[in-house]
Amino acid sequence: MRTHTRARLKLALFALIAATATARADDAPVPEQIVNVMNKIWGSHPGTRANHAKGVVAEASFQPAEGAARLSKASLFAGPAVPAIVRFSDSTGVPALPDGSPYANPHGLSVKFDLPGGPMDVVANSLKFFPVSTGEAFLALLTALSESGPDAPKPTKADQFIASHPTVLPAFASAATPASFARETYNGIDAFVFIDKAGNRQPFRLEFIPAAGAEHLSAEDAAKQSPDFLMTELAARLARAPVVFSLVAHLANPGDPTKDPAQPWPADRKTVTLGTLTITKMVDKPDPSLLFLPGNLPDGIEPSDDPLIDTRVQAYAVSFGRRQ
Ligand code: HEM
Repeated sequence: MRTHTRARLKLALFALIAATATARADDAPVPEQIVNVMNKIWGSHPGTRANHAKGVVAEASFQPAEGAARLSKASLFAGPAVPAIVRFSDSTGVPALPDGSPYANPHGLSVKFDLPGGPMDVVANSLKFFPVSTGEAFLALLTALSESGPDAPKPTKADQFIASHPTVLPAFASAATPASFARETYNGIDAFVFIDKAGNRQPFRLEFIPAAGAEHLSAEDAAKQSPDFLMTELAARLARAPVVFSLVAHLANPGDPTKDPAQPWPADRKTVTLGTLTITKMVDKPDPSLLFLPGNLPDGIEPSDDPLIDTRVQAYAVSFGRRQ
């Protein structure tokens, strides 16, 4: 319960930030409306992402594990190590946000695998599951938060939304400030589908597990950290040694729902280690045209019926267009 109270507090603070923003419904497609509300809540900052604006980029390589190729014919699992680019980030569209701020949760890990036939992207964060099930509901949540400032009549729109969507508070409560970007577990949240050489289909969700183990700070300790502590700690850590994550797939049982990112599968589902991501070196001047899209997938991996995936692809493209 204590963690839910913290999540409620965080949302109340969020609403305070959003108090100056007035979101209004319009006729634009939902992904574009979401980016509009994000820009209103967090401000438009030229050249930065609408969400996860603050981040750092590094070079990496991915070594597939034996056995991954049995699940999927994707070229990611077929041969030797593939080069990759990763980006660690703080939540929100505020590029100067202190890394220890509660708004910086969940933190993100995006990976672009440089495959021969074109890149494959994985865009993950530290939530265990998403607060809502669809893009429409996410738009409604952001809009409710933007209309729930300190002067809003009680119960606020956000109070009402939370009361009717029981997954919102537990989802936000599932993420905390990590001690390091290298000490966080990152989840793909949306379900995708492996296709093997014989055409068999297996739905899965991805998880990056840190070799150094997960470690989180209390809210009090997080607030005491220097504003860029996660960004600078990663650079210092990489100067000493590589940072390593296992990439693990959680496999759905027959009948497990794949279309609801707010509904995690039971913890006893089979897991398979797909490979090892080894991050080696900071990129000092990241390419501003770097764009991670959850729909960039090789033959052998497909989106599931989870509607959030398409909303995300479109919203990321809108944000990318505005930041170019
Ligand atoms: C409907 C749901 C969602 C919407 C509308 C949304 C929207 C956005 C937008 C607009 C951006 C900026 C993209 C850019 O300019 O490149 C972004 C970035 C990001 N999102 Fe989402 N997001 C959603 C769900 C998620 C979920 C479920 C995850 C994690 C599983 C996630 C993780 C991230 C990360 C890590 C980034 C930073 C990407 C980077 O490093 O370049 N988002 N999101």
